[in-house]
Amino acid sequence: MRTVRIRLESTSYDIHIGPGLLARTGDWLKELGFGDRLAIITDSTVRRLYGDTLVHSLSAAGFNVTVMAGPEGEGEKSLETAGRLYQELTDSFTERMTPILALGGGVIGDVAGFVAATYLRGVPLVHLPTTLLAQGDSSLGGKTGVDHGRLKNKIGAFYQPRLTVSDTSTLKSLPRKLLSDGLAEVIKHAAIRDAEFFTFLEDNLDRILALDDGTLEAIVARSAQIKAEVVEQDEHDLGLRNILNYGHTIGHAIETVSDFGIEHGQAVAIGMLAAARISNRMGFLDSAAVTRLSKLIERAGLPTEVPRVEVRQLIDAMQHDKKIVGGRARFVLLRDIGDVFITDEVSPSLVEEALAGRQ
Ligand SMILES: NC(=O)c1ccc[n+]([C@@H]2O[C@H](COP(=O)([O-])OP(=O)(O)OC[C@H]3O[C@@H](n4cnc5c(N)ncnc54)[C@H](O)[C@@H]3O)[C@@H](O)[C@H]2O)c1
Ligand SMILES: [Zn+2]
Repeated sequence: MRTVRIRLESTSYDIHIGPGLLARTGDWLKELGFGDRLAIITDSTVRRLYGDTLVHSLSAAGFNVTVMAGPEGEGEKSLETAGRLYQELTDSFTERMTPILALGGGVIGDVAGFVAATYLRGVPLVHLPTTLLAQGDSSLGGKTGVDHGRLKNKIGAFYQPRLTVSDTSTLKSLPRKLLSDGLAEVIKHAAIRDAEFFTFLEDNLDRILALDDGTLEAIVARSAQIKAEVVEQDEHDLGLRNILNYGHTIGHAIETVSDFGIEHGQAVAIGMLAAARISNRMGFLDSAAVTRLSKLIERAGLPTEVPRVEVRQLIDAMQHDKKIVGGRARFVLLRDIGDVFITDEVSPSLVEEALAGRQ
């Protein structure tokens, strides 16, 4: 097991990472001094796979546990779901000190985190992420929230957990496509901050895909460490955190234009490579680095080219993105693997060329 400690102005907490950790969670929660009641928010898939292991560990540590049905899929990441959960909490609990345990992928983490942040103006939160995306990215950094109409992730709160436990054994039941999706964000963390980690991913990709325990623990821990370092310097997303949007300017446009038919990780993979091609065309990044990124993305089971959507539509979608400052899309570009900078000096024609796959 490895532990990453995240130190923020408001609070500090541990992220425990390793195989078989759900079975140890009861003891850690006891050490945190919580009362004897807990609420778990999870979905039916994760409940079927890991509910018993977790409940057993919590009961053995003396906790009284209520399991509540959280959202299943992005479509239920809504205020309606949050409202139903508030009602269930009211029906079964009254105490402000009753912690909420978010057991599941990023959708569960976002909604349960939002509910924990807002119910009774805040109850303790514990993240128990079960997808690679959630362990290596979304459970870290304190962003919680729901979708509302066209506002994706825009109704929410910054809210930090008291503890995060990433049981890497849970990754073994993930469908391969979800593993690849999560790998996109892990590759992103390496590409923006850590050339050595990027090389580690190149050298160990086969072990990752073979779900080797030690390798999974290593990549989740490093990915968490990188995100933690960025979040520690910019908890409320006012500056440095922007670098985490590498691959996301184009990625978000692909998701929008495909009406979310192309998953986030896949869209970010295409976006990262396009941004690398743009960096190369503007003279910042050498072609060998672009090729390395392309190969790693491909070996991770992710796409490198834009499928099925019109490049012209993508450019339009980017122009309508809320993040745009003064009419120009803001890009995170690479100077080298592990070294990024932010610019709004990218011309639309260059974006078009990069998306068309021309280097
Ligand atoms: N808060 C943040 O900073 C942040 C960052 C990135 C993404 N996100 C959000 O994360 C969400 C995506 O998360 P996700 O990719 O984890 O998807 P998800 O939460 O929708 O989970 C995908 C599916 O996998 C299943 N599942 C979960 N764990 C499993 C396991 N161990 N074995 C088998 N199946 C399992 C779930 O039941 C679900 O059907 C999006 O809503 C996105 O907006 C949030
Ligand atoms: Zn992302």
